[in-house]
Amino acid sequence: MILRSFPPMGIYETLFRFNEVTGRYMGDQGTHPWAQGFPLTVPVPGGPELPSTIEVTHEDRMYPKADGQPELRQALADYYNTTYGSTIAPENVAIFAGGRPALFAVLSFLDGERTIAVEETEYTPYWDLLQLLRRPHTLIPSCVENRFRPGLDEHPQDDGAFLLKSNPCNPTGVTVRGEALQQMVQHYSAASRGAVIDEAYEFFTEEEPESAIKYVDNIDETNLFIVGAATKGLQVPGMRVGWVIASREHIEIFRNYSSFGMGGVSRASQLYVTGLLDPKRVVHARQAIGDFYTSQRKRYGTLLADLGIELYSGTGGFYHWGALPGGLTAHEFNERLFKHEAGILPGTLCDMARRGDDGPHGSFVRFSFGPLGPDSLEADAEILKRCLG
Ligand SMILES: Cc1ncc(COP(=O)(O)O)c(C=O)c1O
Repeated sequence: MILRSFPPMGIYETLFRFNEVTGRYMGDQGTHPWAQGFPLTVPVPGGPELPSTIEVTHEDRMYPKADGQPELRQALADYYNTTYGSTIAPENVAIFAGGRPALFAVLSFLDGERTIAVEETEYTPYWDLLQLLRRPHTLIPSCVENRFRPGLDEHPQDDGAFLLKSNPCNPTGVTVRGEALQQMVQHYSAASRGAVIDEAYEFFTEEEPESAIKYVDNIDETNLFIVGAATKGLQVPGMRVGWVIASREHIEIFRNYSSFGMGGVSRASQLYVTGLLDPKRVVHARQAIGDFYTSQRKRYGTLLADLGIELYSGTGGFYHWGALPGGLTAHEFNERLFKHEAGILPGTLCDMARRGDDGPHGSFVRFSFGPLGPDSLEADAEILKRCLG
């Protein structure tokens, strides 16, 4: 083999093992996909319809623009400006084939020496990206001791500090908002600093959703990269549309990259997502997603806590984050769950230091209620009870 060997992202380990034991794919009808990070792809109760067709003209069969279709870039600029009072232009938006390709592009082009600060407990593929791209990084404590809620005083204070952070955080759901978000944005807006703020779960909060853009004075004068995606809040992971909001100068780099490395993003997908961003529809979607998933977070939170799981979950995202009782490891728990065609994401896969079962994340689980409809709680509770009994 002449390729550098690289394993699949950690979540896939769980999915492959699930398939090996059950002979099925997690997410198939009848399975309990608590490991997986996708939302419902049917309307949530009280939520907007999701169109089942789009019209594709001969123009849509042409190559897409390298940095994204003008209509989608405009719709996104309008969305942020109307919602958060920002003043970004379509030239501050670059379109990617999902959130991960956007993150990959930012980290690929980040200047070589910069050390990336990442919280100790974070979104699994950040680890893969840091390894593959051989990025120097430091960890911000995010552990039981600080209840997975690191303060800004625990962030690097040096001139070249660069942050990579999900907000709301996957897996913990901890959400930085209001004054704390404003201070974080200010800290990383300094000329020599920068940050990737990954807002894939923007809509999934108990309080009014917030984007970091709300606190940015002039994005063109920062090294901030706000990453969003149609994957979660707009409920279309299959469309593969994500974006970066950044300075015009940085967006040009992404355009150049796309011209030789990506070839743009499917025009049909961009067309579909542009429709989802219709101003009235998006207001409706934000409200309905927030309401439904807040109610699910509460229902599943009560269930998991009653079963003895010590929860540290925040108020955002669609996961619960907690420690299993009695020193049970997440891997052992999964072997029990697989017998019922269920599975969680072992917390060790969110450990940015990958310390394994003997490390501090050994008994932690990320329980996803993203793909679960309003009626599955009773059946879920039955399985969980049996496996924790
Ligand atoms: C924190 C975070 N960022 C970004 C993404 C974007 O994913 P995708 O590449 O599927 O759009 C996800 C999806 O799981 C996520 O959890």
